[in-house]
Amino acid sequence: MDYFLGIDSSTTATKALLMDESGAVVGVASSEYGYETPRPLWSEQDPALWWQGTVAAIRQVVANTAVPPHHIRAIGLTGQMHGLVLLDKHGAVLRPAILWNDQRTAAQCDAIRARLGKERLIQITGNDALTGFTAPKILWVQQEEPDIYGQIAHILLPKDYVRYQLTGEFAIDKADGAGTILFDLKRRDWSPEVLAALEINPAWLPPTFEGTAVTGHLSVTAAEATGLPAGIPVVGGGGDQAANGVGVGAVAEGIVALSLGTSGVVFAATDTPAIEPDGRLHAFCHAVPGKWHFMGVMLSAAGSLRWFRDALAPGMEFGDLVQEAETIPPGSDGLLFLPYLTGERTPHPDPLARGAFVGLTVRHGRAHMTRAVLEGVAFGLRDSFELMKGAGLTAVTQVRIAGGGAKSPLWRQILADVFNAELVTVNTAEGAAYGAALLAATGAGTFATVAEACQATIQITGSTAPRAQTAVYQTLYPRYRELYPALRPIFHQQS
Ligand code: XUL
Repeated sequence: MDYFLGIDSSTTATKALLMDESGAVVGVASSEYGYETPRPLWSEQDPALWWQGTVAAIRQVVANTAVPPHHIRAIGLTGQMHGLVLLDKHGAVLRPAILWNDQRTAAQCDAIRARLGKERLIQITGNDALTGFTAPKILWVQQEEPDIYGQIAHILLPKDYVRYQLTGEFAIDKADGAGTILFDLKRRDWSPEVLAALEINPAWLPPTFEGTAVTGHLSVTAAEATGLPAGIPVVGGGGDQAANGVGVGAVAEGIVALSLGTSGVVFAATDTPAIEPDGRLHAFCHAVPGKWHFMGVMLSAAGSLRWFRDALAPGMEFGDLVQEAETIPPGSDGLLFLPYLTGERTPHPDPLARGAFVGLTVRHGRAHMTRAVLEGVAFGLRDSFELMKGAGLTAVTQVRIAGGGAKSPLWRQILADVFNAELVTVNTAEGAAYGAALLAATGAGTFATVAEACQATIQITGSTAPRAQTAVYQTLYPRYRELYPALRPIFHQQS
C-alpha cells in the first residue's frame, strides 16, 4: 500500500495527515502553538514553530498508525496564507513572520493603490490591496525596518518555509503566490510590472509551481529530523483555502465550497482568471493546475452565533438554542441581523463595520433573535454569491458545506433557502490537510488529475434542497442589503 502525507501549518497548529492510496485517512496528528500580538493590530509568529510542529506531527502520526515510513510516496504542503517570511542570504530568519490577520498596513495598502492605480492593480493581480495580503507587509518592512529590509535575500510564505526546511529548496505554489498580490493572475506567475512599481527585487522571490508539481525531495537533514527516508518528493501544494477546495472537491466550475467556521468562506473554482472589477472578491490561482478561484470571506459567521450564545444564553448548548429558533417562521417576524461583529472583508472591506439587530419589537424574544442571527449570516454569505454571479460565474450547481456551523440542519436549510441552491455535505472532514495529501497523490501519479483524485475519494453524504419558503428570503434579502449603507455613517462615527 502507498501512503501520502498532507501537512497543514495553520496559525494555531501544524497538522500531519496520512492518507492511503484509496483516499482513506489512516491517521492525523497535530502539534499546537500560539502567535504573538506585540502591539495593537500586529500579529506575528516565529517560523521555527512551524518546523518544530511539522517534525512533531510527522513523528506522531507515523508512530500512531505504524505506517512503514518507506511506503510514504509523496508529501503535500498547505498552510495559512499571505504571511511574510524574510530570510537572509544564509537562509536565516530575519524577523518574526507577519501573519495574514495582521492589520498594521493600511497606509501601505493606500501606497500600493497610489503607485499602480487601483484599477490596474486589480486588472493584473485580480485583487485590491488589503492589509491581510503579503505585498503591503513587504512595503511596511521597507519603510519601518530598513536595516532588516537591507538584508533580505529570500521572501517566502509560511508553508514554503516548511518546504525549505524539508527540501532545502526555495519554491512556492501558484495559489499562495497569487495571495501575495505580486502575481499576474492570468500568467500564473510574478508580475514584473507590480514588482517594479513596488521596488521589490525579483531575485528575492522563489520560482512558482503548480500544486501537483514536484518542488524538491526530502533532504538528508530533514529525513533525520522527521524519521522519514530521504528523497520523498514534496509537491507544490497550496494555501489553506485552495487546498481545502481540493479537500472537499471544489475543483470544477460550478461547485462552491462553503466553510462555516468562526469566519465564513465562499470558495468557487473557475476555469478562467475571472475578476470582480472592484476587487470586492479575492481572485487567486487554484491549487488545481490551470484553474483559478474566487473567494469571499465573512469574518464572523459561526462566530456570530457563538457571540450571541455567550452574551445572551451563556452555558446553553448550541443545539438547544437553535432548536428554539425552529418554531419561528422564516424571516423572524421582521427582525434582521447584520453580522459584522469584527468588521468585514466581503462584500464591505471595512474594519469599522459593526453588527446590529434591526426591527426589534416587543413581540420578539430570544428565539427570534437566534433565527435572525442564522438568517443574517446566510444573507451576508449570499452577498459573495451575488458578487460571483455579477463577475460571470452564473452556473453554481452545488454548494459543499463544511465547518462547525454545517452540523445544524436548521442552518443548512436556511442557507439552501437563502441561496436558492442545493447544499451538500461530503465525507471528508480534514479540509486543507486532506487536499494537500490529494495533491501529493496526484503529483506521484496515483491519480491522473486532481479532478480524478477528488472523484475517487470524495463522496456526498447528505443533501438539503431549497424549499418554497425561499420566497420570503427573496423579499427580505434586498432589505438586508440596505442595512450596511444606511448604518455605515453611524459605525464610522462610533470608532
Ligand atoms: C485567506 C486567509 C485565511 C488564512 C487563514 O485569504 O487569509 O484563510 O489563510 O489561515
